[in-house]
Amino acid sequence: MDYLVNAIGHVQLNVVDVDALVKESTEILGLHVTHQTDKEVWLSCSGRKAELVLHESDENSVRSVGFDAVSKAAVAEAASRVEDAGCRIVSNEPTLACCETGVVFHTPQGLQIEVHSPIEDDIYGRRHASPGVGALRLDHVNLTSPDPAETRTQFERIMGLRLSERMVDDSLSWMRGANRLHHCVGIVKGDVGLHHYSFEMGEFADYCRLGDRLDTIEKNFIWGPGRHRPGDNTYAYFINSCGAMVECSGGMAMILDDDRYEPNVITALKRPDNVRVMNVWGEPAPLVWREHKFPWAKLV
Ligand SMILES: [Fe+2]
Repeated sequence: MDYLVNAIGHVQLNVVDVDALVKESTEILGLHVTHQTDKEVWLSCSGRKAELVLHESDENSVRSVGFDAVSKAAVAEAASRVEDAGCRIVSNEPTLACCETGVVFHTPQGLQIEVHSPIEDDIYGRRHASPGVGALRLDHVNLTSPDPAETRTQFERIMGLRLSERMVDDSLSWMRGANRLHHCVGIVKGDVGLHHYSFEMGEFADYCRLGDRLDTIEKNFIWGPGRHRPGDNTYAYFINSCGAMVECSGGMAMILDDDRYEPNVITALKRPDNVRVMNVWGEPAPLVWREHKFPWAKLV
């Protein structure tokens, strides 16, 4: 099956205090505001028109996650597959005006997912002056689903995502799109929600700057820096002002030999056996990371 999506396209959050998260996202991560109304703010770290979209709300939750299709034709093809995959189309229009086409669907597990035509991008407008660390691009998200195997099957059938790696009990799994990075989406077993969203860092020294910037607002990393085994990427995590977890990551492995590649299955589930299976270096994941929850908005 061909890939219909390239990567994660954008994340939309419902936020009680939008101003606080805009301030943190711009001054710590180095995002900039690209569009703003009374109820909605779009942010991006690059020349793309939107990567993080915040909606003023009376709750903090995930509204939806969008995947960047490889083309408009791919959006139409994905839309034609939604019902057969056991999901329900709720809109045949993109939620953001910077996408020409889009389809929004609900999964039985409670996720709202959008497949949209590629977001408008200015490749020579990538850099923006900011006191923040200057993230390069929205890299991936980790979702939580009560039925990860079913969620994977839906993503495979609708978007052509491929499994890169999974833990044998499906407590964690990782899928890739057409950009061939090891994962654009991770799936964590649990109540429906968002485990983290991740922005790519340019270089390892950026973690030092990020930690120093977080210190100025009385925050710290909750895990990292270190290097994961699955994906082989470097990482550091913090909790943002609305309670969602943000990862900064770098240097993720690419899977270029698709036809030969066999998804890795991790069978070592307990410490100490799985410490080096899960991490190349750095401390094992702390409880606060493993038990982190950020809810998905109730689907209507
Ligand atoms: Fe991650």
